[in-house]
Amino acid sequence: MRKVLLTLAVLAGLGLAGAAAVVGFGLYNVSAQVGHLPGVSWVLHTTFRNSVRLRAPAPDEVPPLDDPDLIALGAGHYATACVDCHGALGQPRSATVRAMVPVPPPIDEAVAHWRPNELHWIVENGVKMSGMPAWPVQDRGDEVWAVVAYLVSVQEGASPEIPSPDLAGLDYCQSCHGRIGGPVPRLDILSEAYIGTQLDAYLTGLRPSGIMAQAASRVPQARFDELARAFVTQSGPAGAGAGPDLGDIASTEERETGAELARLGTRDVPACLACHGGEPAREAAKGPRLFGQSRAYLAAQLELWRDGVYSHDDLMAAAARDLSDADIAAVSAFFAAADP
Ligand code: HEC
Ligand code: HEC
Ligand code: HEC
Repeated sequence: MRKVLLTLAVLAGLGLAGAAAVVGFGLYNVSAQVGHLPGVSWVLHTTFRNSVRLRAPAPDEVPPLDDPDLIALGAGHYATACVDCHGALGQPRSATVRAMVPVPPPIDEAVAHWRPNELHWIVENGVKMSGMPAWPVQDRGDEVWAVVAYLVSVQEGASPEIPSPDLAGLDYCQSCHGRIGGPVPRLDILSEAYIGTQLDAYLTGLRPSGIMAQAASRVPQARFDELARAFVTQSGPAGAGAGPDLGDIASTEERETGAELARLGTRDVPACLACHGGEPAREAAKGPRLFGQSRAYLAAQLELWRDGVYSHDDLMAAAARDLSDADIAAVSAFFAAADP
C-alpha cells in the first residue's frame, strides 16, 4: 500500500514539474495558425456544450419570444454587436474573423442544436477562451431575451432583415427608436438634458443596459449633446417611436387603479405625479415624462428600479421599492394610455 502511494506521489510530482515547464519555458505553442492539438477542440467544445446544458435557466423561465418588436430589437442589437463575428444570413464574413480559433460559427450554424434557454445562457455569459463575449453589463438577463427572440426567428427561418444603418447619423438611433415600439422607449417626448444624462449613464454603466451601452459606445461621446437636441427638435413620425401600444392596454378598472396610485400614492409608495408631471402636455418637473411610453417599457423599467438593478437615482429607487407586481401593471397601464 505504501509503495502504491509513493509511486502515485512521484507521478504527481513529475506531472506538476512537466506542467510548470510547459508554462515556465513557453513550451506550449499559442499560435492560432497552428490550431489545437488533435482532440483538444473536441474536449473544449464538449465541455462548452455540457457546461451550458447544466447552467441554462429552466425551460419554463423562457418568456414568449414571438413578439415582432422584441425580435426587431434583437436584430437591431445583433447588427452592431454580433454581425462582425457571426455574419448576416447568406453574407460572407471577413477573412480575419474566419482565421479565429475557434472560428465563430456563421449565424445559422450558431443557433442550430440549442434551445432558447441555452441560447440565453450563452449570450448572457459568453464563452471563456473562445472570443465569444459576455453581455456587456450584469443582471440584465431581461434584455438578453430580445436577442434570443431574434436567434429563434433565425432557427425558424422567419428572421427579419438585419438593419445596416449609417453609424454616423441619427439614422442609427432611429433604427430602433423610430421604428420599434414595445420594449424600446420613445425619445421625442423627453427633454434634451435628460437624454444627454442618460447617454452618459449608459456609457459608463451607471444605468446598466447592454443594448444601450453598445449603442452609446458606437457614437463619439462628443456627439451626445447634438443627438439629444436632434431628437427633441424633430417632430412628426421621424422623431416618434411607435407610440403607445393601445392594443396592449389593460381594462379601464386597472387603469383607474393606476391613476389613483400615480395621483395619490399609498402609505408606502409616493405619488408618481409629484415628480413625473401632472398634465400630459406639461414638461415633467423632476423625472422624465412617462405619458406616452409603452406599457411594456414602463413595466420593465419599474421592475428594474424595484429589484435594485437600477440605483442611479435615490428618489426613484425609493419610490419603486414597495411596488407590487399588480401596482406596476396598473400604473404602467395608466401612463401608457395617455398620449402626450
Ligand atoms: C468577437 C467575436 C464574437 C462576437 C462579437 C460574438 N460571438 Fe458568438 N461566438 C464566437 C465564437 C468564437 C464562438 C464559438 C465558441 C466555441 O465554440 O467554443 C461563438 C459562439 C456562439 C454561439 C454558440 C454556437 C456554437 O454552437 O458554438 C452563439 C449562439 C453565439 N455565439 C451568439 C452570439 C451573439 C448573439 C452575439 C452578439 C450578442 C455574439 N455571439 C457575438 C465569437 C463571437
Ligand atoms: C438596438 C436598438 C437601439 C439602438 C440602436 C439605440 N437604442 Fe436607445 N434604447 C434602446 C432600448 C431597448 C432602451 C431601453 C434600455 C433600458 O433598459 O434602459 C433604450 C433607451 C434609450 C434612452 C433612455 C430613454 C428613457 O426613457 O430613459 C435614450 C436617451 C436612448 N436610448 C438614446 C439613444 C440614442 C441617442 C441612440 C443612438 C446613438 C440609441 N438610443 C440607439 C434601444 C436602442
Ligand atoms: C421623488 C421623485 C420621484 C417620484 C415620487 C417617482 N419618480 Fe420615477 N423617476 C424619478 C427620476 C428623477 C427618474 C429618472 C432617473 C434617471 O434615470 O436619472 C425617474 C424615472 C422613472 C422611470 C424610468 C423612465 C424612463 O423613461 O426610463 C419610470 C418608469 C418611473 N420613474 C416611474 C415612476 C412611477 C410609476 C412612480 C410612482 C410609483 C414614480 N416614478 C415616482 C423621480 C421620481
